[in-house]
Amino acid sequence: MTIMNVVLEKNGTPIYRQIADAIAAKAQSNELAAGSKLPTHRALADALSVTVGTITRAYAEAERRGIVEAKVGAGTYVCQSDKPRWTFAGPERPGITSFGYNVPPAINRADLFSGALQQLAAHPNELNNLMLYQPPSGIIRHREILSQWLAQHDIATDPNRLLFCSGAQNAMQLCLLTLCRAGDTILADKFTYPGLMSLARQLQLTVKPVDMDDEGMLPESLNSACQQYQPRLVYLTPTLQNPTTAIMSESRRHALIAVCQAQNLVIVEDDVNGLLPIERPQPMVNLAPDTVIYIGGFAKTLAPGLRLGFLNLPERYYPQFVNALQNHSWMISPLLTAMAAILLENGGANQVLHTIRQEMEQRWEMVTHYLGDAHLRFHPNGFHGWLRLPEEWSLSEFLSACKEQGLEIKSSELFVPAGYSAPPCVRLAVSAPPTRDALEFGCQQLAKLLANPPLSEFAI
Ligand SMILES: Cc1ncc(COP(=O)(O)O)c(C=O)c1O
Repeated sequence: MTIMNVVLEKNGTPIYRQIADAIAAKAQSNELAAGSKLPTHRALADALSVTVGTITRAYAEAERRGIVEAKVGAGTYVCQSDKPRWTFAGPERPGITSFGYNVPPAINRADLFSGALQQLAAHPNELNNLMLYQPPSGIIRHREILSQWLAQHDIATDPNRLLFCSGAQNAMQLCLLTLCRAGDTILADKFTYPGLMSLARQLQLTVKPVDMDDEGMLPESLNSACQQYQPRLVYLTPTLQNPTTAIMSESRRHALIAVCQAQNLVIVEDDVNGLLPIERPQPMVNLAPDTVIYIGGFAKTLAPGLRLGFLNLPERYYPQFVNALQNHSWMISPLLTAMAAILLENGGANQVLHTIRQEMEQRWEMVTHYLGDAHLRFHPNGFHGWLRLPEEWSLSEFLSACKEQGLEIKSSELFVPAGYSAPPCVRLAVSAPPTRDALEFGCQQLAKLLANPPLSEFAI
């Protein structure tokens, strides 16, 4: 009933894979019973005389194959053998610690979603109704529930101005499709979300970067950019900006709104990360609902797999956006909005948000333990940090060194429009490693790299 005695061989199969194979064999033969807890990474590493990193990789591989399950803060457990056939394992990425994507940390949401599904299943008539086409603007009751939930989080919306969509990315697409024409210019922070730039490229729009300070976009620079470019809209992420983590003060929000109102310019407020901080200034939509298109989504705060986002629109734009959504996909699946409505109403969504915030606090504690001396900007509830490299490291050298160590990070180059210079910074998505052990391993590697810059070369 143990894996402490696995015999490791020098037969060309990587050690982590031999350990994962042994776990699989022992789970198959019931030597490791379903539900039993595996030893800690450190204990097994000591017993097998391998590194903790090797065990982390072995457990990750076993989890990928669906043999074990890591429960946050509780350890790793052998799964039940009656797993349904439609489950899937993620792609194998041996040797990679990913700090790449701003995904929510892996937490257990299964109980809450299972409860919501059971609630749906318990009402066959309603379920039948959800199987029908709905108006593109969706079911008003679901929009009312969303609006009430947003109000609990101090976001002022109106059910008659809310529109569900397929995530915040789709919301941005609807904004650009509806408000811009090929050849137009839009404004964004000097460092901004690559998803916006990619969309703009596809729609033949130009993104012009506007100067920012530690809070975000500078009103005077926005004003000059408006004079210079006559933009169609300005895209802002006032809370937990991606990538810099900047949070605008309320006075900065007012100042930017004043510039936009004077220029008759619409603001697209991307608030996907806005609910992560426990406290934050009011969203811009509260201050100027007729100037601001508010974008939110459940990918960061509830579950990316639910694939739901939403817009709160100035009244004058609502019909055009409904039409754009209709052209794009007719409607958002009512089954999804019903699931979300159940979780918003029964407290499940708040529970997930609370767990995510707590998990991020623990993760940042670990990160600062290892990278305490680094020039790192972050918010304790946020997913990503913005790391300025020590002077001795050039961006390109650091990126190649990370790649060699199997560390996936995002270069500042991804966050500036083509042709503009990138600072010596990288974005670290601390939420991305699948377990805290994997995060710890990645932090140790990063700390080592930061402390050991390359020797300077010189030419004669
Ligand atoms: C700033 C920002 N906006 C929008 C999105 C897209 O979110 P969604 O998954 O809801 O489409 C992301 C995803 O990382 C993001 O960082």
